[in-house]
Amino acid sequence: MKKLGLMLLAGLLIATSTPAMVRGQGSKLPYQDASLPVAQRVDDLMGRLTLDEKIGQMTLVEKNSIKSADIGPLGIGGLLSGGGGYPGTGNTAEKWAAMVDGYQKEALTSRLAIPMIYGVDAVHGHGNLKGATIFPQNVGLGAANDPDLTERIGRATAQEMIATGIYWDYAPVVAVVQDVRWGRSYESYSENTELVTKLSSAYIKGLQGDGLGTPGSVLATPKHFVGDGGTKWGSSKTDNYRIDQGVTDVDEATLRAIHLPPYEAAIKAGAQSIMVSFSSWGGMKMHAQKYLLTDVLKGELGFTGFLVSDWAGMDQITSNYAEAMITGINAGVDMNMVPYDYHKFIDVMKQAIADGKITTERVDDAVRRILTVKFEMGLFEHPFSDPSLLPSVGSDEHRALAREAVNKSLVLLKNDNQALPIAKDTPTIFVGGAGADDIGIQSGGWTIEWQGKTGNITPGTTILDGIKAQVSDKANVVYDKFARFRNEKDANGNQIIADVGIMVIAEQPYAEGRGDSPDLMMLDATNLIRERSKKLVIIVLSGRPVIITEQLKMADAVVAAWLPGTEGNGVTDVIFGDKPFTGKLAFTWPRAAAQLPFDFKTLPKTGCDAPLFPFGYGLDTQSSTTYQDTCQK
Ligand code: BGC
Ligand code: BGC
Repeated sequence: MKKLGLMLLAGLLIATSTPAMVRGQGSKLPYQDASLPVAQRVDDLMGRLTLDEKIGQMTLVEKNSIKSADIGPLGIGGLLSGGGGYPGTGNTAEKWAAMVDGYQKEALTSRLAIPMIYGVDAVHGHGNLKGATIFPQNVGLGAANDPDLTERIGRATAQEMIATGIYWDYAPVVAVVQDVRWGRSYESYSENTELVTKLSSAYIKGLQGDGLGTPGSVLATPKHFVGDGGTKWGSSKTDNYRIDQGVTDVDEATLRAIHLPPYEAAIKAGAQSIMVSFSSWGGMKMHAQKYLLTDVLKGELGFTGFLVSDWAGMDQITSNYAEAMITGINAGVDMNMVPYDYHKFIDVMKQAIADGKITTERVDDAVRRILTVKFEMGLFEHPFSDPSLLPSVGSDEHRALAREAVNKSLVLLKNDNQALPIAKDTPTIFVGGAGADDIGIQSGGWTIEWQGKTGNITPGTTILDGIKAQVSDKANVVYDKFARFRNEKDANGNQIIADVGIMVIAEQPYAEGRGDSPDLMMLDATNLIRERSKKLVIIVLSGRPVIITEQLKMADAVVAAWLPGTEGNGVTDVIFGDKPFTGKLAFTWPRAAAQLPFDFKTLPKTGCDAPLFPFGYGLDTQSSTTYQDTCQK
């Protein structure tokens, strides 16, 4: 009611005022008047912009490449931190806020004081920020399959972002992964379209809250449109990547059936920015696909927001830069993640428009979309960080939420001889594997650095910390990352055998194509700890199902813990029985990499051609099933 009244009043004021100024509101121009409808503000601002300023709005630059003094004069529309893009002055929330607010101040010196939009890959919490809450990677949230939980993670992540002045998240990844050899598998919830659709929509609702512009709301960016999860092994032409950024070799019906539904749902959930995929389809880079970007996404699916390119994604269309930009913008890209040489992009745009190769209608459409979203987000009214949210960064409340997510993400693959739960007063527990005591390993890529990093790179609890906190003072916990336990001798000099051995088998951190793996093999010392333990529990830390067929035979119990993030005690809550196992596989688990890619339609259920574990599999400690492999080779 109140809002409506104000709007009517504003309307009256406009009607009685000179076109450029709204009387009674200082010298506010209509586009600066938050009481006016967004469409009217956009129209007003569009009418004031020069062509150069419009090109500026379409330009997205990574922060290490921008000269601050260029932001205002060029009217740069957006800036971003890539993976590892923390402030040069230090990686704290305060320093982030100062950095981003500083760029925003520059943007507001532009002729029309248009705020820039700052983006970051907060893909499992505000991952580049030291001290942020790092949630399980999406592969774990897929196993948890709890939309309410996923939504709450989105809410919490938005708060930690806003504390640092960032209102734009390049998440969620809505890839429907068809081949887990892909290095981005962990960024995805599942191989199953329905599961991805459900959880990604929940996450978008969490990030955006009660709607863009409401307190605590951050703009989501489902990515990467479309078919990124369907690329074919060996088809990539980027660096020495094998599958990432490759070719999605399926017909249109399959593309639509498997990969498109998450976007339909995302748009319904209010997504107003979408990122284009590096991958190709039908012999053409996605960034060049006018049919998919414009006809299908903006036309058929009714997407009214703006399309952002991926990192120099348009550059891959063809080696002629100008031609690549012309093709990409004409295909429907609205904002170009340049990300480095923005002068070059701006010059090419000017020339292309002068030559009529990009029409002013296309430019206007792109800029309208961008400005509409900026207005909807309320960026003109609150362009800066909210320091009142600083205490939320890595707060107890958010860590408790992350811990709950870890609890729910664990999948129990095998549990013979009642190995789990482990009794808290077990006299001797051996713990092996570097991943048992390493925040970087348990968090994976997109954590502090683009590729992630081993070591205790940000505050949290490791699995070993969790074990020590869980056991009673009767238990003796011995940790050896090499799993040799050579010094554990009794009074007679005989090797001590642990009651329980806990072996953590882990992938090293990786991101994108650098994580493409031909064999998914794990190097570990399971055989060593096996000899020294009566019962052996294996915890697998990985961004995807990995090949554990041999280790499975050696172990009494096996737990898939994915990449849990900073709250390692979320793992030990469950293995010591304080919390139940409820996670179920959101990815089919191969017996050997040679089985990949799976043909999901014809997967055998038993025998040596069957996967090791099917989609949906997961035990609880009450199930009395003894593990039986139907492949006897
Ligand atoms: C990735 C995107 C990411 C962007 C910005 C690209 O390499 O593919 O997912 O949003 O970098 O960091
Ligand atoms: C950036 C990432 C980006 C990648 C693309 C890195 O330097 O930090 O965000 O995705 O380059 O190659």
